[in-house]
Amino acid sequence: MTLRLTTTFTALLAASPALAEVNIYSQRQPELIAPITEAFTAKTGIETNVVYLDQGLTERLSAEGSRSPADVLMTVDIARLAQAVEAGVTQPVDSSVLQDNIPAQFRDPGNQWFGVTSRARIVYASKDRVADGEVTTYEDLVDPKWQGRICTRSGTHPYNLALLSAMIEHHGYDAAKDWALGLKANLARKPQGNDRAQVKAIWAGECDISLGNTYYMGEMLEDPEQTEWANSVRIIFPTFENGGTHMNVSGVAMTSAAPHREDGLKFMEFLASPEAQEIYAQANHEFPVKPGVPRADLVASWGDFTADAVNLMDLAALRGDALRLMEEIDFDG
Ligand SMILES: [Fe+2]
Repeated sequence: MTLRLTTTFTALLAASPALAEVNIYSQRQPELIAPITEAFTAKTGIETNVVYLDQGLTERLSAEGSRSPADVLMTVDIARLAQAVEAGVTQPVDSSVLQDNIPAQFRDPGNQWFGVTSRARIVYASKDRVADGEVTTYEDLVDPKWQGRICTRSGTHPYNLALLSAMIEHHGYDAAKDWALGLKANLARKPQGNDRAQVKAIWAGECDISLGNTYYMGEMLEDPEQTEWANSVRIIFPTFENGGTHMNVSGVAMTSAAPHREDGLKFMEFLASPEAQEIYAQANHEFPVKPGVPRADLVASWGDFTADAVNLMDLAALRGDALRLMEEIDFDG
């Protein structure tokens, strides 16, 4: 009797549309992904449940282990994606849709995570005090002409560690150390604040150029208090002398527990679809990863650039070196 009941119950549940759901642990702001999850549910009938975790996503998945209700995780920055893989809370996903839609440098060679949007780490330059063409490479930033004119957030912030990892990848540890020392020598003040605080400092006349991620231009323009800061600078896409502009991603991965694996895969493939890529492009000032998907008008207005082609997992492997380097030279000191 018990067995029969259980079987019937299971069969009922399996046939119930209510079972079609995807549980998402997200380090991205809920409002950023709401338009995507709504479009996914409208298209597939699969519900989504989003748990927003500002911090500790990997730790929570580790603690929950195989009992975790999470199917997919969404986060930003290669360091966090690599950390999740290292902690064993993800599983590989073999999908031709994901492989076809996402360029190789923006996904894990082992298929453990997939980039869904990209952002560039660029130079914000004072419209008044920096002329066109004065900065074309990251290497330019150590030119003595910038002495006392550069602002940046902490050298050990993940965004700057990824950039330094790319410098190590392109030129080797010793040359990257010289570069970081040269950059430190050109700083207008000790590293402090976030990327937007540097643009504020340019607006206030404390420095003339800063390092920052592209999407913050969009965020500043949407914030009445910060619009003036944004309007005092323009975006320059530097390249490495032997490469392109440094990129990072927001990404998605299937959790190792994934109780709704099939629907989770549908969600991941939806994220890489032209439809979701376009929603993303309009919603958050990032670049779609799928080639051919148009950028939002504002994002397109920043101009074209050549993305660095290095695979982000190669940069993740250099993160330890980058951190050691920043500590060796006491970059923030
Ligand atoms: Fe950010």
